[in-house]
Amino acid sequence: MKFFIDTANIDEIKKAASLGVLDGVTTNPSLIAREKGKFEDILKQICDIVDGPISAEVTATDYEGMLREGRAVAKLHKNIVVKCPCILPGLQATKTFFEEGIPVNMTLVFSATQAIFAAKAGARFVSPFIGRLDDISTDGMELIEQIVQIYDNYDFATEVLVASVRHPMHVVEAAMLGADICTMPYSVIEKLIQHPLTDIGLKKFLDDWEKVKGR
Ligand code: E4P
Repeated sequence: MKFFIDTANIDEIKKAASLGVLDGVTTNPSLIAREKGKFEDILKQICDIVDGPISAEVTATDYEGMLREGRAVAKLHKNIVVKCPCILPGLQATKTFFEEGIPVNMTLVFSATQAIFAAKAGARFVSPFIGRLDDISTDGMELIEQIVQIYDNYDFATEVLVASVRHPMHVVEAAMLGADICTMPYSVIEKLIQHPLTDIGLKKFLDDWEKVKGR
C-alpha cells in the first residue's frame, strides 16, 4: 500500500517525507487556500521535496477550461497529476488527458458508477472520499470494497486512492480490502506509528537499563 499526504503545507510534507514512507501528495483548492503563496510556486516546492505523484486540482468546471488549467500545471513538473472533479466535463477532460499522456486523479468520487466511468476514461487514480460519506451516515468503506472488486473483475489499471481518510482504522480497513493508496493528513500519519504500549514498554526498558548502567 502506498501512502500519500493530503496537504499543501510544506512543513508537514517535509516531516512526512523524512519518515521515509511517503509516496506522493494530494492537494485540493481548500488545502491550497490555507497556505501562503502562488499555486504554481507551492506545487514546485512540493515536487522538490517528494519524488512521486503530486495531485493538482483544476478549478474550471467546463471541458476547455479544465484542459487549459490541467495542461498548464502538468508542464510544471513530470510528477504532476491533474485532479479533475467527477462531473461530465471532468470525465471528457480525463479522456483527453489520457490520450495526451497526462495522468489524472478523478476526485470527488462518491459512487461505484462514478469510479467505473473514471476507469473507463483512463484516470490513473480514482479518489473516493470515504470520510465525507461516513459524515452523512453512509459506509464509506463499503464503496472502497465495491470499487476494488469491480476494478479487479475487469482488470482496470486505475489505482484506488482512498481519500478523506480521518483515522487509522480507515487505513487498516482500506489495506485489508486491497486499496492501492491512502491519502491522509499529517495528523493521521503520526497516529499510524503511535501505540501507548510501545511508549510504556520503552519507558520500562530504559528505566531498567539505568540499573545496568550503574554496575
Ligand atoms: C483528496 O484528495 C482530498 O484532498 C481529501 O482527501 C479530502 O478530504 P476531506 O474530506 O478531509 O476534506
